[in-house]
Amino acid sequence: MERLQKVMAHAGIASRRKSEEIIAQGRVKVNGRVVTELGTKVFPDDIIEVDGKIITEEKKIYLLLNKPAGYVTTVDDPQGRKTVLDLIKGVSQRIYPVGRLDYDTSGLLILTNDGDLTHFLTHPSHQIDKTYRVEVKGHPGRSDLRKLAEGVELEDGITAPARVNSIRRRKQTTLFNITIHEGRNRQVRRMCEKIGFPVINLKRIAFAFLRLDGLPEGEFRFLSDQEVRRLKDLKE
Ligand code: URA
Repeated sequence: MERLQKVMAHAGIASRRKSEEIIAQGRVKVNGRVVTELGTKVFPDDIIEVDGKIITEEKKIYLLLNKPAGYVTTVDDPQGRKTVLDLIKGVSQRIYPVGRLDYDTSGLLILTNDGDLTHFLTHPSHQIDKTYRVEVKGHPGRSDLRKLAEGVELEDGITAPARVNSIRRRKQTTLFNITIHEGRNRQVRRMCEKIGFPVINLKRIAFAFLRLDGLPEGEFRFLSDQEVRRLKDLKE
């Protein structure tokens, strides 16, 4: 049995809190009877109506966004900054980001209303690869980059082995790709800072097998059925 407001939220009616308000307003019927009690639990085969319309499980959707810097990866920002949802037009489902990118980080971000897949993809034990194109100030040498690959001692513990490649030196900066499977807060920035080369640009270019593939910044596309299947297959 599930709480009525949880079932309503899953069906995409509104957030759980808003659903509670809708229940309290007497707009919800369970098996034909108005329910206003907030603790009400329902069975999977109970018929739930909101404003006279029977609710059904919401269709799951999956988007890949090329996030620009200057957007927060939350649904709502207390400081009133722009959120990644401001970039998603024409989608009626309530979707949310899979994991986080910093305000200043750009690149590949998945958004979905599939809570199970989100949970799987963001759980540290599943070790999904994420690749970042990093630009740091200065010129780290081979031994510096080896430190990144072998593990850096951060305040929340040593980082897991990473892959570093595609190194390119510029006049004042160095670019390289780093692939990590952890998802700690500001991890790449903290790793580079720790070895003495602060990040000046960070972009996620891959998530598992997904790539940006020329998708312009600020735009999104829907994942294909095959891509969604492949993401779910990572579970097996
Ligand atoms: N690592 C970071 O430091 N920032 C991100 O946004 C993602 C990974």
